[in-house]
Amino acid sequence: MLAIEQYTRRLLKDFHPIVAANRPPVDLAPDAGDRERFVRGSGGLVTGLSGLAQATGAVWVASARDGFEGELDLGSGGEPMVVETADAARFQVSWVNPPRLAYDLYYNTIANPLLWFVQHYLWNLAEAPVLDDSTHRAWNEGYRRVNQLFAQQVVREARRGRKRPLVLSHDYHLYLVPRLVRRELADAVLQHFVHIPWPTPQYWKVLPQYMRDEIMDGLLAADIIGLQTHSDVRNFLLTCEENMGLPVDLRQQTAFYRGRTVWVRRYPISIDVREFERSAASPGVERAEREILRWRPEQLIYRVDRMDLSKNIVRGFFAYERLLQAHPEWRRRVIFWAMLQKTRQNVPEYREYARQVVQVARVINSRLSSDDWQPIRLELREDMNRAVAGYKQFDVLLVNPIYDGMNLVAKEGITVNRRGGALVLSENAGTHEELGEWAITINPFDVDATAQAMQSALLMDPVERHARAEKMRAVVQQNDVARWISAQLQDIRDLVEPLAARHPEPAREETLPVGREGTL
Ligand code: F6P
Repeated sequence: MLAIEQYTRRLLKDFHPIVAANRPPVDLAPDAGDRERFVRGSGGLVTGLSGLAQATGAVWVASARDGFEGELDLGSGGEPMVVETADAARFQVSWVNPPRLAYDLYYNTIANPLLWFVQHYLWNLAEAPVLDDSTHRAWNEGYRRVNQLFAQQVVREARRGRKRPLVLSHDYHLYLVPRLVRRELADAVLQHFVHIPWPTPQYWKVLPQYMRDEIMDGLLAADIIGLQTHSDVRNFLLTCEENMGLPVDLRQQTAFYRGRTVWVRRYPISIDVREFERSAASPGVERAEREILRWRPEQLIYRVDRMDLSKNIVRGFFAYERLLQAHPEWRRRVIFWAMLQKTRQNVPEYREYARQVVQVARVINSRLSSDDWQPIRLELREDMNRAVAGYKQFDVLLVNPIYDGMNLVAKEGITVNRRGGALVLSENAGTHEELGEWAITINPFDVDATAQAMQSALLMDPVERHARAEKMRAVVQQNDVARWISAQLQDIRDLVEPLAARHPEPAREETLPVGREGTL
């Protein structure tokens, strides 16, 4: 990361950078002596942004997600707080501390069930969603409210600096932030990156018009909107055109809104390859690997995931069951190891999904186990060393999401695996645009085709397996997180007008009429 740190500093020397994301860059975790300490947060967003935030010394505006983080905010006296993690990374965190009810409505009613489900096509539309007054209330009192608090904090941080503010806001939690910030800071450079898929204009119409218009109006106040894949960029521009009636240029990847040009660009997120390789060689990972070697069979099928509905874990188990039924010769010779973490347990759909995942694994095990063999090894735990040890050991990595913005498991797995492991990959994972040519592609809904793909992976000639793995590793090495960051910074430098050339927007914009729920 050293070269990118210097490069980042140089490119950003005229800016005052601020990151805004729901998740802070750190989590609390107990150490060996059961004392709480800060560790780097998990998930793709934190992985991608940590390097940038550290290289630039950007303040990271984040939600205080619980009482403890709320206390950190109270203790910081409104100043950004310097947090150092166990592995010596330093971040400046500026907490947004919403009232608990507002946070709950924002995170557990709007962001995760509603926006996450829209953007991953997760509903069975004949039955869900059922929107009612409680949804409108959650929008007003939760989503809007928390977005306002974020924008206020970003503006406060921006005003502390002397240089031109550069606000990098992230994801589906904060779609209203660019507009709210633009109203206060007409000359700031605003970039918003969306980590999850952007669905078709038609699917957005599941949401009431005022909500989807407010989302688009919020986002289109940015100078640049970043997305993961070509198809996300296209869907975004089509949404501007079809749902908002805006002129767009699909070749130039621009939309025109309120007299401004907005760039819509693809930046596939990635991992810090060198750091990941280093961590794969650490004593903790090697210890975990020795333990795995004690029980691993001839062939290991592996998956690591949050228990999110979009990850398609249940169909993955069904496909494996079909593999074992169609090819009993694999019994005792293969184990499907699923290392899963509970997530978003305040959302009923997620609780129910976690229950279903465990139940299906149990049923398959009870049907097919023998005295000395269990077909599925289900571990519900969050243990990075163990997860990475699994990456080194798999023969087949199953990544079969229904839809996924990128999916860093695929990139992490093939980076450190040295067994020539095969990747069975959903055509609807963002990473398929980069790795699909050498992976075994599946339609994630087709369990027989997925079983067949597992069979092909298990039987693939080792020379071919190694050659494919090598190709994929080279792609990730080349498109690593440093490239993700530098591509964005170059666009900020090349596409955004310098201060002097700008036609300033009025310092205070008029608010848009946004339908039945009034204005912001
Ligand atoms: O972009 C999706 C994302 O924010 C990822 O970065 C991360 O893997 C996941 O969602 C985490 O979600 P949450 O913060 O709700 O646990």
